[in-house]
Amino acid sequence: MSNGPGFFISFEGGDGAGKTTHVRLLGEWLAEVTGREVVTTREPGGTALGVELRRLVQHGEDMGPRAEALLYAADRAHHVASLVRPALARGAVVVTDRYLDSSVAYQAGGRELSEAEVEGMSLWATGGLLPVVTVLLDVDPAVAARRRTGDPDRLERAGSDFHRRARDTFLRRASAEPERWLVVDATGSVDDIQSQIRVDLAARLDLTPVVDEAVAPRKQHPEPRAVPERTGGLQ
Ligand code: TYD
Repeated sequence: MSNGPGFFISFEGGDGAGKTTHVRLLGEWLAEVTGREVVTTREPGGTALGVELRRLVQHGEDMGPRAEALLYAADRAHHVASLVRPALARGAVVVTDRYLDSSVAYQAGGRELSEAEVEGMSLWATGGLLPVVTVLLDVDPAVAARRRTGDPDRLERAGSDFHRRARDTFLRRASAEPERWLVVDATGSVDDIQSQIRVDLAARLDLTPVVDEAVAPRKQHPEPRAVPERTGGLQ
C-alpha cells in the first residue's frame, strides 16, 4: 500500500521525556525548511474519537492488558485512516507524539503481552504504516517521574518496573533497527536536544544544506528544499 508523497515522523519515549515540546519545535522548523504543510498530532487522542478513547484508557475504570492494547490500537487505526494517511497523500509532513512503538513498549514490554502480537495488531490496524524516522527521547523513568506535575493517570501509576521495561523495549527496538530510529539523550536542555534532533534529521532526510540553520538560525531563509518522497511505510 502506498503512503502518498508526504513523510511520517514519530516521537517516542517515557512519560515526562519532553515529547510534546520537541514535536512542536520540530514541526515549526520543518515547515520552514521544507516549505511543506506540517501536521503535528498525537496518540492517543489525535482525533475526536481518539480523545474519547484517551479518556477511557487513561482515566477510566481499570482494565486488563488486552482491552488496553485494543483501545490504543483502535485509536491508532482511526488516527491513521482519518488524519495521517490523508495528510501524507496531500504531501504533508506528519509528526506524531507516540505511535506503534509505544504499544510495543507499554503493552508488550510494560504489561508483558507478546511483542509480536502487539506489533502485528498495530500493523494490521494501520495497514502497515511505519514512520521513516522515529525519534526516541530517552530518559531514566525515575528522572522523568520527577518532572511530571498533576495527578498520575492509569499508565503513570503502573510502577517503576513497568516503566523500566517500557524504556528497555524502546532501546532494544532502536538498536535493532538503527536506520529508522534516532536516539537522543533527553536529560539535556531543550535547546541542545532540539538542535541535535534537527541536525540528525537533516542528515537522515537529506536536508543537509540547512544543517547550519538548525544550529544557528539565519536571518534570511533560503528557498524551501525538496525532501525525499519517503514515508517509510510498506509500499
Ligand atoms: P502521553 O500523551 O505521552 O501522556 P501525557 O500527555 O499524559 O504525558 O501518552 C499517554 C499515555 O499512554 C502514556 O502513559 C503512554 C501510554 N500509551 C500506551 O501505553 N500505549 C500506546 O500505544 C500509546 C500511544 C500510549
